[in-house]
Amino acid sequence: MYKILANEPLVPNIHLIKIEAPAIARKALPGQFAVVRVDEFGERIPLTLADWDGEEGTITVLIMQVGTSTQKLAALNAGDHILNLAGPLGLPSHLDKFGTVVCAGGCYGVGAILPVARALKGLGNKVICIIEARIKNLLYWQEKLQQVSDELIVTTGDGSSGYKGWAYDPLKEMLEKGGKIDRVFAHGCTFMMMLTSEATKPFGVKTLVALNSIMVDGTGMCGCCRVSVGGKTKFTCVDGPEFDGHEVDWELLAARRTIYLEEEIRSLTHWECQRWYKPIVKVVEV
Ligand SMILES: Cc1cc2nc3c(=O)[nH]c(=O)nc-3n(C[C@H](O)[C@H](O)[C@H](O)COP(=O)(O)OP(=O)(O)OC[C@H]3O[C@@H](n4cnc5c(N)ncnc54)[C@H](O)[C@@H]3O)c2cc1C
Ligand code: FES
Repeated sequence: MYKILANEPLVPNIHLIKIEAPAIARKALPGQFAVVRVDEFGERIPLTLADWDGEEGTITVLIMQVGTSTQKLAALNAGDHILNLAGPLGLPSHLDKFGTVVCAGGCYGVGAILPVARALKGLGNKVICIIEARIKNLLYWQEKLQQVSDELIVTTGDGSSGYKGWAYDPLKEMLEKGGKIDRVFAHGCTFMMMLTSEATKPFGVKTLVALNSIMVDGTGMCGCCRVSVGGKTKFTCVDGPEFDGHEVDWELLAARRTIYLEEEIRSLTHWECQRWYKPIVKVVEV
């Protein structure tokens, strides 16, 4: 059992969860993830390690509530326990001294990009972080990212804060103006990573994306996380999660991510009913 030390809502729909997990914290590297099973009825879901402290023996994950498992996690309190936690899994990010690097983050990826940006800065790169959100009250961790970057560009879809647009817009603008960018890392939803890769492709800037395929075991055994990269079949859990965005078959990834949509909706409806109506039924019975 893994104890939850903190559960803080950062913005509507995204929670920061700090967990006691000394073995994972000791070995974690930027770009890696952990597989979590909340309880005995839970499915196994991958979550990127957004931060960790080897001495304290803790890891931090940011969860965006999209379905049953992420809702269940968000509903836990400090002091509660998670049943299973495996990690660190996946290959670490391919980090080096590249020169000027853009780290783009959206949704939970704003948190996931932090350790990558921090490590790149430590290696002597000029780091430009670009984060996106639909509206300004969905922005978070600006201060943390500011500390590990030379420049932080904030974008919002409605223009309520910073640049009006999405993370790939200022990136594209920089490239069109002849800006020298040696590498791009993008973490976020599938669409955001695809558009970021499309923006950099004409300029030949290598773009690494952290793919978010559905996973089961997270150790290369089930084949569930299969993706196609450069025409070759890869397993996101053991060959990734980071891949060259210009080589990813995005259509296949998007299609495979929705194969259990009906079951996911049924599962969420069932869980929501249990969560909200069971206590009411009990009160009525009393
Ligand atoms: C390597 C890796 C690292 C990941 N890291 C994180 C992380 O740090 N934080 C985090 O919140 N998630 C992360 N994810 C995604 C996360 O694993 C899924 O969101 C989670 O499995 C959803 O489980 P669920 O039961 O809550 O929702 P499900 O019931 O499984 O999914 C509900 C619906 O939401 C859609 N959906 C799932 N994920 C997303 C998403 N991210 N954005 C928009 N729609 C989505 C699904 O396609 C489905 O239709 C990561 C995925 C991978 C592969
Ligand atoms: S999750 Fe099973 S092979 Fe990757």
